[in-house]
Amino acid sequence: MHRRLLLATRNNGKVRELRALLDGTGIEVTCLADFPDIRLPDESGETFAENALIKARAAAAASGLWALADDSGLEVEALGGAPGVRSARFSGEDATDGENNALLLERLADVPDERRGARFVSAVALCAPGGDCVVREGYCGGAVIRAPHGSGGFGYDPLFYMPGEGMTYAELPVTRKNEISHRARALFLIKQDIVDRLGSDDTPCSE
Ligand code: IMP
Repeated sequence: MHRRLLLATRNNGKVRELRALLDGTGIEVTCLADFPDIRLPDESGETFAENALIKARAAAAASGLWALADDSGLEVEALGGAPGVRSARFSGEDATDGENNALLLERLADVPDERRGARFVSAVALCAPGGDCVVREGYCGGAVIRAPHGSGGFGYDPLFYMPGEGMTYAELPVTRKNEISHRARALFLIKQDIVDRLGSDDTPCSE
């Protein structure tokens, strides 16, 4: 059995999240910090799934390990799904969260409350060194409000209101966001794939 999984990211928060998720499975999570020579291709896909696959495939091929990669963003109905895969660079290549949020509010200025529906999407791809892959997606629905609320989280969190929770992503306690977020849902699904393919082959003692 293969017990090492490469997470194709340099984001420590994502590494911690995945380690916590796989705690107790016997799978060791390593990341690109341990492979400084690996360069990931540009995120040139048109969907979150394509981008996750591009990164996971490249990381698996370059390392010879099973690899996992994710891509995520916000889709706004009234904008035909934008910013979508361009979420991080909505207002320009090196855009800050504040600039992206300001542009989103500007684009939605004339959109009435009932047409401000949006969802966060997370696609997570798991690839074998030989190239076989599986992709899972998680979603979280809500609406874009007219002014930021809350100081937690990152990205579009202060503008993303969840009616079921009665608050924005930025107002949710971290523990709650990690239970219900788009990323949590995608990771929950892929966990089974990871355990099936890389998990422990130690047969528990039977009576
Ligand atoms: P990445 O997939 O981590 O690269 O995220 C792409 C972009 O999507 C981020 O820069 C954010 O703008 C947005 N995004 C993804 N997930 C979240 C989230 O949980 N909250 C707020 N923004 C997010």
